[in-house]
Amino acid sequence: MPQKSVSHLLATDLDGTFVGEGEELRKLLLHFESLEENVTLVYVTGRHLQSAKQLIDEEGLPFPEVLITDVGSALHDFSDSEIGNEWKAKIEEGWEPERVRAAARQIEGLREQELPVSCRVSFFAEDHTCAEELEKALRSSRIPHQFVYSSGRDVDILPLQAGKGKALSYLIQKKKWQDANVLIAGDSGNDLDMLLLPYPAVIVGNCQEELKNVSGDLIYRAKGHCAAGILEGWKHYFSRTDTRLAK
Ligand code: GLC
Ligand code: MG
Repeated sequence: MPQKSVSHLLATDLDGTFVGEGEELRKLLLHFESLEENVTLVYVTGRHLQSAKQLIDEEGLPFPEVLITDVGSALHDFSDSEIGNEWKAKIEEGWEPERVRAAARQIEGLREQELPVSCRVSFFAEDHTCAEELEKALRSSRIPHQFVYSSGRDVDILPLQAGKGKALSYLIQKKKWQDANVLIAGDSGNDLDMLLLPYPAVIVGNCQEELKNVSGDLIYRAKGHCAAGILEGWKHYFSRTDTRLAK
């Protein structure tokens, strides 16, 4: 399918990043409306599809061009379902959720999250120690996976090829958006791999502990919380001319 050309793209986490400060979000969206260029939205969330759609409804968020859910283990392109299907097939290779569950059953302090999906296995961890124990057990049993720990509570075990960063890179490449001005925004551990991609990124001021010491040439640390932080990051990278980022 021919891909629509995109000049500016915001790829953002939802909870604690795009969502959380309603008035600031309104200002961010007004800023986007004031620009000559269209800003394409991609939401990249830890939530599953129904839960993300419910949040979009409840908060009255603009509907995105693409919704990446389940910490990057599912991809929903509303104009081209093929990309999501290909992503599913790609990450399923070597994915053994039952072995993940069996390893987790040996560890105290982990409670599996009830989810309507099979593309990830997630837990609530009582503390850091049991999360680490699970990571060690999965490694020593050579169970292929990606381990993601966020907010001192959530443990997501994803297929090896999944994650927010990998899913977003795949999307950008498939849609031929490499030359767009991309800003990536996040607040917690499940955003880390996408924040480290070679695109401008912003960590919002209210970020979780695990992102407090993250830095990089293309990482702007905002003072503002949630959407206020995104707007700060946007202006930092793009506003001088609101056209192309000097490369
Ligand atoms: C969201 C999801 C949860 C996940 C967490 C961290 O809260 O609802 O399932 O574990 O993000 O990625
Ligand atoms: Mg978040």
